[in-house]
Amino acid sequence: MKASILTFSQTGNTLKIGNCIEAGLRENGFEVDHTQFLKKEKFDPNGADLIGIGSPCFESRPAEIIPEFLKNRRFDFTGKKAFVFITSSSSPAKSLWRLSRMVADTGAHIIGGIQIIGVSTAPTMFGLTPNRPNQNDFEFAQVFGRAIAENIKNGTALPNPYLIDPNTGSLFFDKVGLIANYIKKKMLSPPRIVAENCDLCGTCIYECPVGNFSVEDKKIKVHKKCIVCWRCWHVCPNEAISTNITPGNGLIERLIWSERMERFWGELKPGQDRGQNLYKDVLTRKIKLKYDRKNPTAEFGFVD
Ligand SMILES: Cc1cc2nc3c(=O)[nH]c(=O)nc-3n(C[C@H](O)[C@H](O)[C@H](O)COP(=O)(O)O)c2cc1C
Repeated sequence: MKASILTFSQTGNTLKIGNCIEAGLRENGFEVDHTQFLKKEKFDPNGADLIGIGSPCFESRPAEIIPEFLKNRRFDFTGKKAFVFITSSSSPAKSLWRLSRMVADTGAHIIGGIQIIGVSTAPTMFGLTPNRPNQNDFEFAQVFGRAIAENIKNGTALPNPYLIDPNTGSLFFDKVGLIANYIKKKMLSPPRIVAENCDLCGTCIYECPVGNFSVEDKKIKVHKKCIVCWRCWHVCPNEAISTNITPGNGLIERLIWSERMERFWGELKPGQDRGQNLYKDVLTRKIKLKYDRKNPTAEFGFVD
């Protein structure tokens, strides 16, 4: 039996979980074709008995490039079974359920999904929920992979934690996320190139998860595909990407997605620690996210 998995991962959390699910499926005899979104052209679900789609949560929603891709390529998964997975920091809201609906729109029958915490890479919440996903998360994802395989091969029922409940996740953050995403796109400028600092090193081209940069006439051209993840801004070694992100313009976000609010709305579970917000150190460039598109690890490192 064959599974085709498509994972979008900006910094590596979702990819790590996708790899564990893949391992679980393989353990139970599945052949797995796992494609990173960066190489989405290679995603070939034809002939697969099972489809898996993974995404990080951005502003309480699955990254919007996933449904766009599924729609543009006009995938028809009618008659196929599918699972979904999300990684998020401390407030995923209803993103798992939303991703399941997006995949169901292709005709697929959703059999289950998991939502796992990853270290936050949201620009104004850097470093929250550190050291996640951890060993327990990896095991959970691998066991999920095994359970999915058993479900398909032997009809074994999926255990409760893998079933998607539309009532999980706060409606408050679901609605706020929609508004925040809209406002952010209107208010925060897309990346601009500071020509005098740019030496055409190509890091932004290499690292952008959606291919928003190219070289034209010996200049970096910024296209219109920006998903406002700020990866280019982090990785540019020459400070040649300018955005109007400041500690100030993230204030409202930090108030809404504060620990108190997340606890009040039930997103942060009792006993769950959010960790320390590193945004100031990131904005002042004391800390940078370590990036490597080929081997993303979602780790923070100190700038030399
Ligand atoms: C632009 C942006 C928005 C985010 N919004 C949320 C959010 O609304 N709720 C949340 O819990 N985490 C949010 N996060 C954190 C990511 O969901 C989390 O770090 C995820 O594990 C990243 O996955 P990746 O490493 O595979 O890219 C956001 C991250 C980014 C970059």
